[in-house]
Amino acid sequence: MGRAKKVVLAYSGGVDTSVCIPYLQQEWGVEEVITLAADLGQGDELEPVREKALKSGASESLVADVKDSFVKDYAFPAIQANALYENRYPLGTALARPLIAKVLVETAEKYGADAIAHGCTGKGNDQVRFDVSCTALNPNLKILAPAREWGMSREETIAYGEKFGIPAPVKKSSPFSIDKNLLGRSIEAGTLEDPANEPPEEIYAMTKAIVDTPDEPEYLEIGFVKGVPVSLNSQSHTPVELIERLNQIVGNHGIGRIDMIENRLVGIKSREIYESPAMVVLINAHRDLESLTLTADVTQYKRGIEDTYTKLVYNGLWYSPLKAAVDAFIQQTQERVSGVVRLKLFKGNATIVGRWSDNTLYTPDLATYGAEDQFDHKAAEGFVYVWGLPTRIWSQKNK
Ligand code: ARG
Repeated sequence: MGRAKKVVLAYSGGVDTSVCIPYLQQEWGVEEVITLAADLGQGDELEPVREKALKSGASESLVADVKDSFVKDYAFPAIQANALYENRYPLGTALARPLIAKVLVETAEKYGADAIAHGCTGKGNDQVRFDVSCTALNPNLKILAPAREWGMSREETIAYGEKFGIPAPVKKSSPFSIDKNLLGRSIEAGTLEDPANEPPEEIYAMTKAIVDTPDEPEYLEIGFVKGVPVSLNSQSHTPVELIERLNQIVGNHGIGRIDMIENRLVGIKSREIYESPAMVVLINAHRDLESLTLTADVTQYKRGIEDTYTKLVYNGLWYSPLKAAVDAFIQQTQERVSGVVRLKLFKGNATIVGRWSDNTLYTPDLATYGAEDQFDHKAAEGFVYVWGLPTRIWSQKNK
C-alpha cells in the first residue's frame, strides 16, 4: 500500500519537483502523479515545463494562469494592509503560496486525488504555507513532501532523476536559489549566505544598478480607488498590467532592492535579497494616501493590525479565522482611501512629493499659519490644561 493513490504535485519544472514525480511513484507507491504549474507571471515559458512533467512520468500535466487573481486577491489586499514583513519584505513569495495551494486543492478535488505534494524542504517557510493552506481548504487531503524526507544532496537528487530520464540541468545551475513572480524576486544561497558579502550585481533582473539609472528624475502619479491602485499617470490599467508597467518604470530607476537578514518561522535566520519594485512603491504610496484620508486613530490603530496581517501571511495562516477577521477590519478602513500620490523617481529613491484626494481630511483653514486661520487658539488653552493635569499632579507630589 502506497502513501496515496493519486497525487497533485505543485510543479515548477526544476530538478527537485521533477524528481518528485518518479520518487512518489517508485518510493512511496503513488499510482498517478498529476502536475500543476501555476503561472504567476514568473516569465518562464510554461509549455516546455508542461512537457517536461510528462517526460518525467506525470500522467497529466496542467498549467494554470492565475496572474489576475494573484494581483487582485493577494497583492492588492497586501497593499491595503501596507504589508512589509519585519518592516521591509513585501511578501512576494509568501503571497503566492496560498493561491497555489488553492489551485492544488481545486485540482485534487476535480481529479479525485487523495493527496497534494510539493517539493519544499523542511527548512523554509513555504512548506508551512503549503501544508497549512491545503489542509485549511480541504482537511481530507493528505500532504506529501518528498524533499522533506528523502535526505538526498543536490548531486544525489540529480543522479536519482537521471535514472528516470530527468536531464541534469544543462548550464551549470546558478548557485542562487531564486523564487520569482509578478511581485518580485527572492534570492538566497551561494555567496549571499555570508551576511557580510555584498550581493553581486548579476543576481538582479528587475532593477537597474544605480550607476545605470537615468540621470534625470521622472515623475509618476499613482491613482488609488478604495486602497487599490488603478492608474499610472492618469491612465487606467488592469491589475496585472499595472504591476508589470510599474515594475518596469520604477525598476529602471533602481528602486525596490532589499537586502535583509530575516527571521523564518522555523527559527532560522536567513539572508535574503529581494527586488520588488512595484510593491515597494505601491505600499509607500498607499500608506501616504491613508495619512491624508484616514483619521488619526484609525491610521494609528491600523498599524498594529497591519503587523498582525503581515505575520499571518508570512507564517502561512492566509486561510485562518484571524486573517479573515483582520481582512474585514482592513476592508472597512479602505472605503475612503481614494486619490492620487505623486512620486519623484531618481537614483534608487521613490520620493513622495505630493498627494490629493476628494476625501482628504486635511483642512487648510485649520492647518494654515496664515491670516485665514480658523483654529480656536483659546480653546487650546483649556485643552492643554486638562491634558497635562495628571502629569502636573504627579510632578508636584514627586518633586
Ligand atoms: N524568505 C522568503 C519567504 O519566506 C522567500 C523564500 C523563497 N526564497 C528563495 N530564494 N527561494 O517568503
